[in-house]
Amino acid sequence: MAKWFKAQPEWLKRPAIYVERKEDSAVLRQLLDCTGQTPSGFFYFLTGPPGGGKTTLAQRVIHELREGVLYVEAPSDAGQFGQQLASTLQLVEQLPNPLFLIYDYVLNIAGGPEQERTSKLSSCLSALETAARAFRAARRRPAVLVIDNAERLAAKESVMRDMLFAAQQWADRGLVRVVFVSSDDALITRLLGQSRCSKAASVEMGDLSEEQALQYLEKRGVAAKAAAQVVDVTGGRLLQLMSAVEVLEHGGTPEDVRRLALVAAEAEFQKVGLLDDTPQSAAGLRVVQALLQADNIASDQWNRLVPSPHDKEELLRDNVFARRHRDCKIVFENRSVAVLAREKFGAACN
Ligand SMILES: Nc1ncnc2c1ncn2[C@@H]1O[C@H](COP(=O)(O)OP(=O)(O)OP(=O)(O)O)[C@@H](O)[C@H]1O
Ligand SMILES: [Mg+2]
Repeated sequence: MAKWFKAQPEWLKRPAIYVERKEDSAVLRQLLDCTGQTPSGFFYFLTGPPGGGKTTLAQRVIHELREGVLYVEAPSDAGQFGQQLASTLQLVEQLPNPLFLIYDYVLNIAGGPEQERTSKLSSCLSALETAARAFRAARRRPAVLVIDNAERLAAKESVMRDMLFAAQQWADRGLVRVVFVSSDDALITRLLGQSRCSKAASVEMGDLSEEQALQYLEKRGVAAKAAAQVVDVTGGRLLQLMSAVEVLEHGGTPEDVRRLALVAAEAEFQKVGLLDDTPQSAAGLRVVQALLQADNIASDQWNRLVPSPHDKEELLRDNVFARRHRDCKIVFENRSVAVLAREKFGAACN
């Protein structure tokens, strides 16, 4: 059987401690598996908190799907993206011969001048297009290209522009579904807002559920009572759960975890200017009060509470408030800031 866009064997490795994420897995499967689907005409942004498990889960799902998905990690130098894509493409088996010439060409001009690099990326994109056409003829479905750490491409405007253009063209033609993976919320909001991205949609991979967070801690050897105390302040934020385990493993207590989480949250409050005399502080405190009454606030209320565009931008800049892509509602960015907000400002609501 021909193997196209094959999953890489090293993805078989599971992290020693792994919590199953059935719902997120199903969402990702829908995104990455084009079997039996009519082309949607869309390309996608997969978002979620930094260190929230996007790469791990995406690689697992790709591995389960076995074929049809090409995964590429954007290099830290966006100018090298063509080369990176080309070497990933080499993994695709059974391609028509002329494509190998393109790889050779692309790889051999690595590190060349700007002009060569640009033509390298476009050569690579047309190679991918040819491979995807062959794949579609054989399998009757589009291929999928996952670009992880996609924010790195934004460092070079021309690279991001070319990739977005290709993504849209391929979506229109039902040839390749491109999925940009990034935790850079501001970038995704900006790209989604651009008119040429009218065919883009976002899929958010959030935190672990509370139950999964408790499972994670249990698997890492944390006793049930301590685990509950930790989750109370970290919620299902994976990075915070990991550092909580470290604190506990070094002899700290759940109270230490709580204290450290609240210190970090306070620093975030400070960064967005909620604790100082900044132009946005009054509006920001109104939002805090509103979020202490309800878990989220809708866009129209947000607009009333924060009329100034400058204040909006400042308040969403760091990790106190966030705008959920799926419904545009404003929420506390994580559990720790919500806990701190309740401790600091909750009395005014009671
Ligand atoms: N379901 C899970 N259970 C246990 N550990 C996990 C799980 N998912 C991810 N991890 C661990 O969490 C860490 C971060 O995961 P990963 O790199 O996949 O996150 P990410 O969202 O891609 O991060 P980034 O935003 O930096 O790209 C890794 O050490 C990974 O092994
Ligand atoms: Mg990642």
